[in-house]
Amino acid sequence: MSPTSPPVRYLLHDGELIDYADARLHVLSTTTKYGVGVFEGFRAYWNDEDGELYAFRIEDHMRRLVDSMRVVEIDGPTDTAALAGQLIGLIQANELRSNLHMRTQVFVDSPDGKPDDTGPATVFMAAIPMGNYFGATGLDVQISSWARLSDRAMPPRVKSIANYQNGRLALLEAKRNGYGAALLLTESGHVAEGAGYNVFMVRQGRLCTPPSTESILEGITRDSVLQLATTQLGLDVDIRPIDRTELYSADEIFVCGSAAEVNHVTSVDRTKIGDGSAAGPITSRLQELYADAVRGRIADFGHWVTPVYGTASA
Ligand SMILES: Cc1ncc(COP(=O)(O)O)c(C=O)c1O
Repeated sequence: MSPTSPPVRYLLHDGELIDYADARLHVLSTTTKYGVGVFEGFRAYWNDEDGELYAFRIEDHMRRLVDSMRVVEIDGPTDTAALAGQLIGLIQANELRSNLHMRTQVFVDSPDGKPDDTGPATVFMAAIPMGNYFGATGLDVQISSWARLSDRAMPPRVKSIANYQNGRLALLEAKRNGYGAALLLTESGHVAEGAGYNVFMVRQGRLCTPPSTESILEGITRDSVLQLATTQLGLDVDIRPIDRTELYSADEIFVCGSAAEVNHVTSVDRTKIGDGSAAGPITSRLQELYADAVRGRIADFGHWVTPVYGTASA
């Protein structure tokens, strides 16, 4: 992206609107020197029938941001409603009326950063138009030779900038080997998650996903899928450790995340899943339900969406 053509006019810095080109962090800050920082990535969806933009589970994301700050000891803001309000204000200021990806990032911006600095914290927010992250053709996935981070070293539950080196290595390896995405195993060999998404499988008629203690980010999309599967489809979900070889014999596999949405897996290590091309029936239903939920079309989950312009009641 050239600096002369910013994708949006404004970003937000500690609650103040700034021009896109003016977002700056000191090169010797704790964040740039030591990777200290946490963030959230979330979405907003345009609903044509309502003429409204809905931000999805925005306060849940802000809660996770505050939890992340607590674990890695960053003294940043803790008022989740105020943070959510600022992000909504930013979207309004940019007058955005299409599907968006939003980020809220908390950095430690000390002019001469030391590794144990806990402040001063500085908050940047961005809301930028974004379509599909992966496309709809399904993913050929490689099981990475890199292990997923562990709670004893770099807690994956924390959405920390530094954690993303782990997923990046897995993704680079997968791409080098001709795959579209990567899944990582825990140090003990169980399926954890992907480079930016959680994973589910359907095996022997049961929907399964790893528990939150298996080196995963506790995904908000994962939680949404769990709630949709149980309440809308009447499915029982097994939340249990998953072996690598269970993936090879699964009927359906999908990954999910705010950016990734619900995306089906067509192969794992070149072993075909389902017919090797289309999403399976449970995945397809969950994709439809998720697409409806994020656009405020499921009354039971109206509380998940925040209308940005207030033209419709969620
Ligand atoms: C490592 C990792 N796992 C899972 C997810 C999915 O989380 P969520 O659904 O809250 O976006 C993400 C999303 O960014 C992620 O980075």
